[in-house]
Amino acid sequence: MKRWLAWIAFVSLLGALALLGLQMTQEDHGVSTPPVARTTEADLARGAYLARAGNCQHCHTARGAADFAGGRALETPFGTVFSSNLTPDNATGIGSWSAQDFWQAMHHGRSKDGRWLLPAFPYSEFTRISRNDSDALFAWLLSQTPVRQPNRDHALAWPYNSQWALGVWRALYFRSGTFQPDAGRSEEWNRGAYLVQGLGHCSACHANRNALGASTDAAALTGGLIPVRNWYAPSLAASAEAGVQDWTSDEIVQLLQNGVSARGWASGPMAEVVLHSTQYLTGTDLAAMARYLKDLPARLPTVAVALEPLRGDAAAFLEGEKLYERQCAACHGEAGQGVPMAYPALAGNRAVTMASSTNLVQVVLNGGFAAATAGNPRPFGMPPFALSLSDHDVSAVLSYIRSAWGNRAGDVSAQDVDRLRSHAAR
Ligand code: HEC
Ligand code: HEC
Ligand code: HEC
Repeated sequence: MKRWLAWIAFVSLLGALALLGLQMTQEDHGVSTPPVARTTEADLARGAYLARAGNCQHCHTARGAADFAGGRALETPFGTVFSSNLTPDNATGIGSWSAQDFWQAMHHGRSKDGRWLLPAFPYSEFTRISRNDSDALFAWLLSQTPVRQPNRDHALAWPYNSQWALGVWRALYFRSGTFQPDAGRSEEWNRGAYLVQGLGHCSACHANRNALGASTDAAALTGGLIPVRNWYAPSLAASAEAGVQDWTSDEIVQLLQNGVSARGWASGPMAEVVLHSTQYLTGTDLAAMARYLKDLPARLPTVAVALEPLRGDAAAFLEGEKLYERQCAACHGEAGQGVPMAYPALAGNRAVTMASSTNLVQVVLNGGFAAATAGNPRPFGMPPFALSLSDHDVSAVLSYIRSAWGNRAGDVSAQDVDRLRSHAAR
């Protein structure tokens, strides 16, 4: 029996190594660097804009430290990863890189020294960037102020810290590829697809991940749990979650530009995406993204959530109602109607009624702010209730808002609240 298992392991390893070999031969080592054209002001402006579209600054800037100098800690299920210094410092940044080195990183996920990069850097999506856009980004980064700050070593558990494990991971899950426009679709749709699938890296959150952190059906955008942060990025293919197929283009543009819209509200990690990235995109690009999102084929969410049955327990309902009136109604309204552009309505809000209750627990325990944008410059905040409400209280008030005012969704249990609370405390 044991011998069989050893054989299976051996054969799978051979398979992975064969794939790895295949992948290495696929890389375009032989492609020569195109002659570098002089960088114009327009190229630099485009580079700055693309950096917004890819949200580079957010990951590559540590809290309170110099822009783009890296060192920001990103928690993953495999350990802590630190982003790299992207300033043009010769010794510690990308000052000595060529446009070809930069392309190699964006398109193949390989550093200048040949090291394979960790997929916490979303090159699985960035690989679709055009060479032209990669060069504009690189030129703009080179025009920034150099900062001398050595990259920090990642703190990953074995074997995730080894290049051979990453090699096997890449052989299994990573294919470099350029964006292939669909000739049967409009130019607008194709531009939207390029942004959503590429620099926008929406699937980094909105797709389910397997145990090795790879999203296997990224293009479908059917939703996924964001590891460690424990927020659920709902399915963009299901109208009961985050699908916008039946929204107008204007409503989608408003959401991505202002963070708030008549139909929905960006909160938690999505508010950060709006804050640092999408609010800076042009109306034309946002409309293109809206076109692509509206045309996404409808699919059922992939994350199966065991629904707590509606208990229909009158005493629990009354308890939740009391808590709601005391703690929440001042902002969200007696009947959950909210205040337009200030406090989201909770009645008829799919963020409240979708199967996963993870984000509701997060919002009530930790509070939150909508994104500050030109269209919503001073967003109101929601206070955290982690200290004032017990697990039981949170479950009662959430179960209440999920079944009051015509909402029909399952109860939230005190264990669900406890799970997320103890996670946050770690
Ligand atoms: C979700 C977070 C995240 C975003 C968004 C992100 N990066 Fe990174 N990036 C990382 C991490 C983490 C690393 C380090 C990977 C490693 O060391 O293996 C990295 C590494 C890199 C590297 C390799 C640097 C080196 O020294 O090898 C380049 C180049 C890079 N990023 C460019 C960009 C650009 C350009 C953008 C925006 C278009 C961007 N990144 C957006 C997280 C991110
Ligand atoms: C860092 C993770 C992350 C990334 C990247 C991300 N999202 Fe989200 N998104 C979320 C989460 C979490 C939610 C649920 C919270 C909420 O409703 O705002 C969400 C919600 C949404 C919603 C529903 C909003 C509503 O009110 O119903 C839309 C639409 C959306 N995202 C589109 C996008 C698009 C388009 C991109 C790429 C440009 C993107 N997201 C990138 C995490 C992310
Ligand atoms: C001081 C005003 C205020 C109070 C009190 C308040 N909220 Fe909020 N709530 C907000 C604001 C502002 C937002 C939007 C914040 C964001 O997007 O992160 C929000 C967001 C939410 C959301 C997310 C809605 C969405 O569409 O993503 C839920 C759910 C919610 N609140 C429930 C509650 C519950 C339950 C209580 C009582 C325990 C409560 N709130 C108390 C102001 C408040």
